[in-house]
Formats: sequence, C-alpha cells, structure tokens
Amino acid sequence: MKVQIDGSVLELAKGDITQQEVDAIVNAANSRLAGGGGVDGAIHRAGGPEIMKELRARYPNGCPTGSAVVTGAGNLKARYVIHAVGPIYRGGTHGEPEKLASAYRTSLQLATEHGCSSVAFPSISTGAYGYPVGEAARIALQTVIEFLKNEGKKPQLVRFVLFDDATYQAYAEALKELTGQG
Ligand code: APR
Repeated sequence: MKVQIDGSVLELAKGDITQQEVDAIVNAANSRLAGGGGVDGAIHRAGGPEIMKELRARYPNGCPTGSAVVTGAGNLKARYVIHAVGPIYRGGTHGEPEKLASAYRTSLQLATEHGCSSVAFPSISTGAYGYPVGEAARIALQTVIEFLKNEGKKPQLVRFVLFDDATYQAYAEALKELTGQG
C-alpha cells in the first residue's frame, strides 16, 4: 500500500527490515542501546559487530526514550542505522503517545540531516514494549504524515516494514483512516 504525501511516498510493506535497500533503516532500540531481541537482535545479527562497537564508542550513556541516534550500518545494504527508543507501554497515561511520536520525529530529522532520501521504519514499541498496535500505528503514521507535509527538506520515501499480517493490517487500516486513500 502506497500513498503520496506532498511529493513524497509513504509506503507499507510486509517483510524483514534488515533486507531493505534504503539509505537508512530504523531500529527499535532500548535506552541503554544494549541490543536485544526482535528488530534490534535482527539488525545487530545481520549488520555485524561494527554497529555495537560504534554505539558503545559514540553513545556510552545510551539514548533517552523518545529520541534516536545514528550509526553506520555494517554489513547491511543501508548506509545508516537510526536507533530509536520507543516507550514501554504502561497503560497509555505515562506520556507514551508523545514519546512514541517523538521517536519517529527525531528519526526523520536525523535521516534528513544525513541526506537520506529513503528510510524504513519497523513498528516501534509494539513488540516487547507492548504498545497496542492500532494506537501505535495511528501515532506512527500521523507523525510521518505531519513531517512530510511540514518539512521542506525531507525523505522522498518512507517505508514501514511490518513483520506479520496483523501488524500490516493495523497500519493499513490506520493509513486509510488518516488519508482516505488505499
Ligand atoms: N523486521 C521488521 N520488523 C520486525 C523484525 C524484522 N526483522 N523483527 C521483529 N519485528 C517486529 C515485531 O514483530 C514487532 O511488530 O517489530 C515490531 C517491534 O517489536 P520489537 O523488536 O520487540 O521492538 P519494541 O516493542 O520497540 O521493543 C524494544 O525489545 O529487542 C528489544 O532491545 C530491544 O529492549 C528493546 C525492546
């Protein structure tokens, strides 16, 4: 599923984010930037040890929730990995929506600053961090749409790479709701 937002393409795809041929892929990291399971595990496995080495050297204090940092991408096809830290879901009344939106916004800003014309995101916070996928999908897509509408310098392609059918369906429904397209 694909829509045009102010000259850029916003696309939903099913698959594995480590296989994407884009300028930057986004990781769903933790605030210690310590690696883990899910997307994080897959990215470090496929990208090799260089990524963790760079994280330890450049960001020894980690990264706050709602923010993101950049490294090279080791053996991956992408040029950069943007390590974004989404919130752990604790009922939705602890600032989770704002922190999730901020993780996406910061990632888009960093991608733009690094001259990336294409970026791939996973569904941040909806795995180990327990964010209900319908709500997370609306926040993720709304944040990307606002960025693409409001920023002059921006990626030409933003692709969500969703791992399973239920997650893909949730994003497809949210995108339809938000844009009236699809
Ligand atoms: N490509 C795309 N999506 C993937 C992949 C992959 N290779 N592997 C898993 N996913 C999906 C999951 O199915 C889920 O829909 O990414 C989504 C996010 O799940 P998590 O990776 O668990 O991320 P999150 O909920 O943000 O939790 C972050 O988990 O692995 C740890 O170190 C990480 O502590 C951090 C926490």
